[in-house]
Amino acid sequence: MTLSGFDLQDRLFCVTGGAGLLGKVFCTAIAAAGGRVIVSDHDADRAQATAEAINAAHPGRAIARAMDITDETSVTALLSDLPREHGPIHGLVNNAYPRNARYGRKLEEVTYADFCENMALHAGGYFLTSQKFAAYLAATGGGSIVNLSSIYGVIAPRFEVYEGTPMTMPVEYAAIKAAVLHLTRYFAQYYRKAGVRVNAISPGGIFDNQPEPFVRAYGAQAGQKGMLDKEDLAGTLVYLLSDAARHMTGQNLIVDDGFTL
Ligand SMILES: NC(=O)c1ccc[n+]([C@@H]2O[C@H](COP(=O)([O-])OP(=O)(O)OC[C@H]3O[C@@H](n4cnc5c(N)ncnc54)[C@H](O)[C@@H]3O)[C@@H](O)[C@H]2O)c1
Repeated sequence: MTLSGFDLQDRLFCVTGGAGLLGKVFCTAIAAAGGRVIVSDHDADRAQATAEAINAAHPGRAIARAMDITDETSVTALLSDLPREHGPIHGLVNNAYPRNARYGRKLEEVTYADFCENMALHAGGYFLTSQKFAAYLAATGGGSIVNLSSIYGVIAPRFEVYEGTPMTMPVEYAAIKAAVLHLTRYFAQYYRKAGVRVNAISPGGIFDNQPEPFVRAYGAQAGQKGMLDKEDLAGTLVYLLSDAARHMTGQNLIVDDGFTL
């Protein structure tokens, strides 16, 4: 038996928030797996730098493009003019992480306005890109959408791992990431006859120099690894975008070293 379908076959995928911590890894993984990637971010300079770094290792595989997931004109402009130059788009990775300046506070300090604004930016942004890209993909023969949720879209917060640090698990994040999981199922159901697959990845915490007490407490609730490295999600993303997952839709893959068990 030979395994087939994991190669991305020169197909073109758009990664939102492509200049961020996970976005850079996802964009690089798509290029390394034989695909082409639109590094899209609302920060145009960082998108450009990311695409240049990927092209240095994988020539001609990355395109930088400024796109704000909360701006309808910006999203529809990408879909209408980029394919004219670069050919059809085959999928979307909803990975951007918009938040307002007061995001990340403890429950008692979150105002109604902040809650609503962060829901609108993040869950609303994922809705907007999904709505526009799913319609585009359905009209052009199908494709794959992958939404970034989180373990905290799946389970209740484990506040004890934040003790002794200024960090918390924001209430907006719980609501947003649970919403992202159900948007995944909604779009998967809506478009399943149109060849548009929609799945989610729910990562555990990614190590990014968080305070040591947090890393230790988090690790105590996981397996051998604890917090993940950002590269640990690349294979799961490529799988979901590829033909190896061609009959999979509406699903959520939790990648967390057993934290949610
Ligand atoms: N880092 C983690 O531990 C972790 C764990 C679970 C899930 N996730 C999820 O993974 C995704 C990526 O997280 P990250 O840690 O890489 O975030 P990050 O903050 O490092 O990167 C996010 C990127 O999104 C871009 N962005 C912000 N607002 C935008 C907008 N309106 N339009 C377009 N781009 C915008 C930023 O410029 C940035 O480049 C998020 O959905 C996050 O919730 C992260």
